[in-house]
Amino acid sequence: MTGLPASGKTTIALELEQRFKAMGRNVEVLDGDEVRKGLSSDLGFSKEDRQQHAKRVTFVAKVLTRNDVIVLVGLISPFRAFRQAAREEIGDFLEVFVDTSLDECISRDPKGLYKLALDGKIKDLTGLQDPYEAPEDPELVIPTEDVTVEQAADMVMDTLRDHGYL
Ligand SMILES: Nc1ncnc2c1ncn2[C@@H]1O[C@H](COP(=O)(O)OP(=O)(O)O)[C@@H](O)[C@H]1O
Ligand SMILES: [Mg+2]
Repeated sequence: MTGLPASGKTTIALELEQRFKAMGRNVEVLDGDEVRKGLSSDLGFSKEDRQQHAKRVTFVAKVLTRNDVIVLVGLISPFRAFRQAAREEIGDFLEVFVDTSLDECISRDPKGLYKLALDGKIKDLTGLQDPYEAPEDPELVIPTEDVTVEQAADMVMDTLRDHGYL
């Protein structure tokens, strides 16, 4: 799942995790901050560091996926080329664009990141100062301003079914 900060990636991933657990499926969430702490505490937010981080997450997702674990990756992942590399490396891969307007993300701001950036205390926030390349041909687009979290999770489940994963 790719999208701007505060678009809803974590919220939707956690809803999906509950559903897969209830189905008895092995599931792992590799989500933004937590996975950064675990895998990439040595990295910052330059393009090079973001790429290095993407490579590490891709590797972990790949080894889990080949062991039949459903891996929900929730990362801003702002660059198309990095997402394409992950798709090629992992193989069994669906790209979900969590599509939320910048204005809506700024008004949600659950972690206060936009406020910090607008106050000049962060200099590299994706969407405001750093670029975000929206997906051109994702398997699914979730317009979170028009659907509930439950509906968003339903959309992901339907897409997995359509691609033969469930
Ligand atoms: N339809 C929706 N889908 C996901 N999140 C939503 C939706 N509507 C409102 N929200 C809210 O938007 C915020 C998204 O935050 P979060 O999931 O942490 O975003 P991200 O992980 O993309 O940075 C949460 O406060 C969530 O409750
Ligand atoms: Mg998140």
